[in-house]
Amino acid sequence: MSKPYVFITRKISEEVLTPLKQIADVQMWNSESEAVPREVLLNEGKKADALLTMLSDSVDEELLENAPNLKVVANLAVGYDNINLEAAAQNEVIVCNTPDVLTETTADLTFGLMLSAARRLTEAHHFVKEGQWKSWSPYLLAGTDVHHKTIGIVGMGSIGTAVARRAKGFGMEILYHNRSRHSVTENELGAVYKSFGELLEGSDFVVCLTPLTEDTKHLFDADAFKRMKSSAIFINVGRGQVVDEEALIYALEHKEIAGAGLDVFYKEPIGADHPLLQFPQVVSLPHIGSASVETRTTMMELCRDNIIAVLEGKKAKTVVGGK
Ligand code: DGY
Repeated sequence: MSKPYVFITRKISEEVLTPLKQIADVQMWNSESEAVPREVLLNEGKKADALLTMLSDSVDEELLENAPNLKVVANLAVGYDNINLEAAAQNEVIVCNTPDVLTETTADLTFGLMLSAARRLTEAHHFVKEGQWKSWSPYLLAGTDVHHKTIGIVGMGSIGTAVARRAKGFGMEILYHNRSRHSVTENELGAVYKSFGELLEGSDFVVCLTPLTEDTKHLFDADAFKRMKSSAIFINVGRGQVVDEEALIYALEHKEIAGAGLDVFYKEPIGADHPLLQFPQVVSLPHIGSASVETRTTMMELCRDNIIAVLEGKKAKTVVGGK
């Protein structure tokens, strides 16, 4: 009997793949920097029993309806807005993600981005690197404090909770907004539930960690930015499309908010000419929330184990939907 066929849409660790190769023929798109072209992905989908995908791959109706052997899609991310779950269910394909294993790493990045935007770390780095540091002066690259300020977390899932724990260590007041109340965070960290509008009005740092769904698309619109303090810094480590990017640009241009730290963008990747890059008070990162070597390796292992489980007729560990 021939082995099942697994296609991986980006170059990942060969070592991680060893156990998978024992039970399946495995091919991968052999580039670290270039996403798999759509045509290649569609063709591979026609043959594959399993796909290991990236958040940049669109696993849509067209792909899923033309993948007669496909049993599982393991997405190397906690977010799965790139996958049409309804079409997956209709085509009896199991969809898995990588929750929990990236929580602390992504919370570290979120906090780092907040510190960086508040204390102007990237500006300061470029200042030194470009030879501009000629003398010390009291307000040279002076930013704003993070400690003892108010953080407003939109999306109190496990990453939000991990950010709240860090905020507590910095003596911050913690506000949050979420679909449901989070008693653990309220009791243990003193986090206070607020309506979306109250959170925007009361926070020095507004941190977006909510997943992208039909309900959250453009949640941060012109009105949302207007409601924030003019000293507020907006941090987004969720998904770019939760923000109306034109509205964010307008808010920065018109000083409705003081700055931003962005790990995600409306359409990724962005080019060097993207309007958000013109603002010195914006720190921009290339979607690296969970990108530590340890965590990315663990995420790959989880995807691998989920694929092996499904191909062996067992239950995958982290199923988000589909069949
Ligand atoms: C995810 O896993 O969804 C994150 O965005 C990756 O950094």
